[in-house]
Amino acid sequence: MTEQRSDTHDPLWWHQAAVYQIYPRSFADANGDGIGDLPGITSRVDYLARLGVDAVWLSPFYPSALADGGYDVDDYRDVDPRLGTLGDFDAMVAALHGAGIKLIVDIVPNHSSDRHEWFREALAAPKGSPERDRYVFRDGLGPHGEQPPADWTSMFGGPAWTPVGDGQWYLHLFAPEQPDFNWRNEEVRADFLKTLRFWSDRGVDGFRVDVAHALAKDLPPDLPSQAELEAMDRATGTHLLWDRDEVHEIYAEWRRVFDEYDPPRIAVAEAWVDPPARRARYASAEGLGQAFNFDLLEADFDAAGFRRVIDDNLAQAVETGSSTTWVFSNHDVVRHATRYGLPPNGDTPRKSQREWLLSGGTEPELDAVRGLRRARAATLLMLALPGSAYLYQGEELGLGEVADIPDEARQDPTFFRSPGVDVGRDGCRVPIPWTVEGPSFGFGSGSAHLPQPPWFGKLSVEAQAQDPASTLALYREALALRRRLQTAETLTWAPAASDEVLHLRRPGGWEAVANFGATAVPMPAGDVLLASGPIDGSELPPETTVWLRVASQ
Ligand code: NOJ
Ligand code: CA
Repeated sequence: MTEQRSDTHDPLWWHQAAVYQIYPRSFADANGDGIGDLPGITSRVDYLARLGVDAVWLSPFYPSALADGGYDVDDYRDVDPRLGTLGDFDAMVAALHGAGIKLIVDIVPNHSSDRHEWFREALAAPKGSPERDRYVFRDGLGPHGEQPPADWTSMFGGPAWTPVGDGQWYLHLFAPEQPDFNWRNEEVRADFLKTLRFWSDRGVDGFRVDVAHALAKDLPPDLPSQAELEAMDRATGTHLLWDRDEVHEIYAEWRRVFDEYDPPRIAVAEAWVDPPARRARYASAEGLGQAFNFDLLEADFDAAGFRRVIDDNLAQAVETGSSTTWVFSNHDVVRHATRYGLPPNGDTPRKSQREWLLSGGTEPELDAVRGLRRARAATLLMLALPGSAYLYQGEELGLGEVADIPDEARQDPTFFRSPGVDVGRDGCRVPIPWTVEGPSFGFGSGSAHLPQPPWFGKLSVEAQAQDPASTLALYREALALRRRLQTAETLTWAPAASDEVLHLRRPGGWEAVANFGATAVPMPAGDVLLASGPIDGSELPPETTVWLRVASQ
């Protein structure tokens, strides 16, 4: 019997939920064509229930040419035929809900794909037409418009403007296959409301909003240069492209739709904003309700750094009345079991990771054992924090990044658009190993769409499921305990044995102590409920976290 996770009508079910991100093309392949699919997910609902997650966040599953892993959407109200049908989607929702697991789907409102019906219409229609007004078109410079309207670069490298052959160019902040919508256009606004209702009516519990801070734009007739754009202040809500104040008018409209449902549909914003205080608007109850913070993901493995991030984000959650979000890994970053085995990044964010990826995994030297030990310790600390925990498929197996994917097998546009500088994000998107052996390690009956390394077998679900010391067992126990122990969304800090130790207390006698240092410290008082690594009782070893039960005060 599956334990019922939460009251299905509790409007605040998401506040302290453990949310498991599925990157559908790499999770489970039911029909053996090498691509993960929705029936594959349905077939693994028991696994998710046993893991103990409260919700699944499903990355895009819409029809797509996969120019950007599905974040180039052809049709917002359908399923990619390679992943299944709307009927398969309904069956997946029913299976998840039957197991007490909610479903959050990714929505990509900043840009469609260039194959979207509206973009095709825009290309076929003349300059100045209503069809072109749904996107961001501008005349090129030069006598025939043969020069781009501005020298802007896209987020994936290369130009952000692409010509359409009649003197006009369109804006794409990401790949050329991802034209940006014009959110001042009423049809665009109305169509997204229709999409939110479409999936909500099908039982979806919430939405993860892609690039939530980019929708509102204000392009003057004379466009600034890239250098001028970069120099513009992002903290005032008046930057031409990013985090403009009026973006919240859009989300206020969305909120009214969410609140038509019982319980209200939820949303979590992917909003890379600065200063972090600006995140609060996305997390407000009149807006999307919750926003990702990627601060832990960006932090080195360091007690003081973690403590700062935790304090700042909990304070912000109190201010907004939302709950905070914790993330170590997702489909865009090097997996944390690998990050923590590389030299710290310090002031040069992600430098060692980039070098390591570019070298195919040889330089700088990776200490994979240490990386996993730290990842387990960090995760056990994170799962003791108030707020929601977002987990990425495969981290419960302790999977590391795959660095040695051959160039010809790579798929990520960042690799193609920045040759020699960035190999991209394929290394964290390699299909999940379910069995020790077999074609694609049980992912499907055939090969996988991205090659899996030989070492995946020993990290498979099958290899770990019966091993009480495995990473999978740790996640299962932690998630089960967390559900039982979690009460109010508060914590207090206890004095710790050293600067390299964090000791937190949750109400009801639940404590977590994390030793970030290289030497053991005395084990604090209390009954050990769970440890991220081997312990002998009297000491808390280096790079290890324990959960303790103490008599509540
Ligand atoms: C953020 C997504 O997480 C990423 O995978 C994608 O490439 C960009 N948004 C563009 O949609
Ligand atoms: Ca398939």
